[in-house]
Amino acid sequence: MSEVLYRKYRPRNFNELVGQDQVKEILGKAIEKNKLSHAYIFSGSRGTGKTTSARILAKMLNCLSEGSEKPCGVCDSCKAIDSSSHMDVVELDAASYRGIDEIRKIRDAVSYRPVMGKYKVYIIDEFHMLTREAFNALLKTLEEPPDRVVFILATTNLEKVPETILSRCQIFYFKPLNEEDIVAYLERIARAEELEYDEKGLKYISKAAHGGMRDAVNLMERVIAFSGDVKEESVRASLGILPEKVIEEFLQAFSSGNPSSVLAISEKIQSGGFTHEVFLEQAIDAIMGRLVERPSDDCFRLLSTLWETNKELKYAEDKKTTFEVMVLLKGDFRKQNGEGTRKFEGSPIALDENIEKPEVSVTEEGEVISSFIEHLRKSSYTLWWTLISLAEVRRGNQIEDLIIEPDSEYSCELLKERMESINRIAEDTIGKRFILFDRAAGEEALECLDRDSREYFDSVVTGLGLKNDMENGKIKIELEEE
Ligand SMILES: Nc1ncnc2c1ncn2[C@@H]1O[C@H](COP(=O)(O)OP(=O)(O)O)[C@@H](O)[C@H]1O
Ligand SMILES: [Mg+2]
Ligand SMILES: [Zn+2]
Repeated sequence: MSEVLYRKYRPRNFNELVGQDQVKEILGKAIEKNKLSHAYIFSGSRGTGKTTSARILAKMLNCLSEGSEKPCGVCDSCKAIDSSSHMDVVELDAASYRGIDEIRKIRDAVSYRPVMGKYKVYIIDEFHMLTREAFNALLKTLEEPPDRVVFILATTNLEKVPETILSRCQIFYFKPLNEEDIVAYLERIARAEELEYDEKGLKYISKAAHGGMRDAVNLMERVIAFSGDVKEESVRASLGILPEKVIEEFLQAFSSGNPSSVLAISEKIQSGGFTHEVFLEQAIDAIMGRLVERPSDDCFRLLSTLWETNKELKYAEDKKTTFEVMVLLKGDFRKQNGEGTRKFEGSPIALDENIEKPEVSVTEEGEVISSFIEHLRKSSYTLWWTLISLAEVRRGNQIEDLIIEPDSEYSCELLKERMESINRIAEDTIGKRFILFDRAAGEEALECLDRDSREYFDSVVTGLGLKNDMENGKIKIELEEE
């Protein structure tokens, strides 16, 4: 395989393009009826066929064949476009050329007639990345489009495109591809390459590709490089897919409510060289399967736990610990083990808005605080749950200070990592930040003092007006020996 697979098997006409039926149909009709727009936007996630379709469209417009089957794929024009050497088809990657110069060049060039074919086609990839000036220049061109010029603007971030441009283009949405379509496409490649494969192997790859065809093909290529075939065992090994047995064990450990078996499985995932992310994906998949067959409260509780854990894991540095803490906290293991549930009674699953609200202990009746907590609950259930189960939220001695006081050192460590996120939401909703009350840090420093020294120290700190800041953890005390 000298050529990269995804290039070698890039669809050369709409029959070969998988899915995207609407795009194919509408564009096909437009060409048939000669009702072309001057500018198209191809929007969709990566590897769904935007560039491929842009080239196919360019070929259809410029194909020199007399027959009705277009693009023919064999005329000089089709061949030139396939090899990116057509004089009238220009591809530009706005991710690397963002500036006005490139667009000016286009603006100057569009007024000349096509050289080789009937249409000049400009394909601008990731065009949302153009600078403002470049956008404006492009807009001018779109406002007075010369005949026989077609713009195809591809983007993975449609929301970043100014309205002025949107309103001048016809927009096509490229959908993520479904698993069956991906499997079918991979199978075609596997056959053509005379590879050994099986259904299960292709399925695993198509799942891991999350709707992106390029990713699917690249993953398959990785598996081939790794083991020479695309059979289930090879795919499992190279994508790090866990044996189903482990998933099964986890589901059991979860329903039994036994923390130590959950922790043991977490350990096993890591020591086996697997990742918690892949594990979660598999587990969520398995639980979805069960829910379809026989829905139960237990299943819903597990699904909710895994889903929240998955979200949290994306940004976590220590994936293993985060996984463990999240599963144990969110899975409500404390309650099942009869330990004190502190401030929160009832199930921690927010499946709907009407769920009974927990008693959040707010020492000083503060509307600001309760309004913040309500916001937090809505914007990040995980953060909210972590916060209210691990800490007390209150005002400081000075009324403008907002304090989060963890209930243990361990909670404090967990919250430290989340303070930035909490405060981002706090700033957005109540325009204030919280201070994490780090008792250990303060007490540790003072522990070594005898009583007299401590009283003396207190009076100095109070005299300086720093007592509040110290208690709130705003300032840290470090004492030198002696
Ligand atoms: N809908 C599709 N049908 C078949 N193959 C596809 C499809 N979308 C993408 N591919 C494969 O992925 C590769 C990259 O596709 P491309 O059109 O460049 O994606 P995009 O421009 O949307 O990121 C193609 O060469 C092809 O192998
Ligand atoms: Mg592309
Ligand atoms: Zn042709």
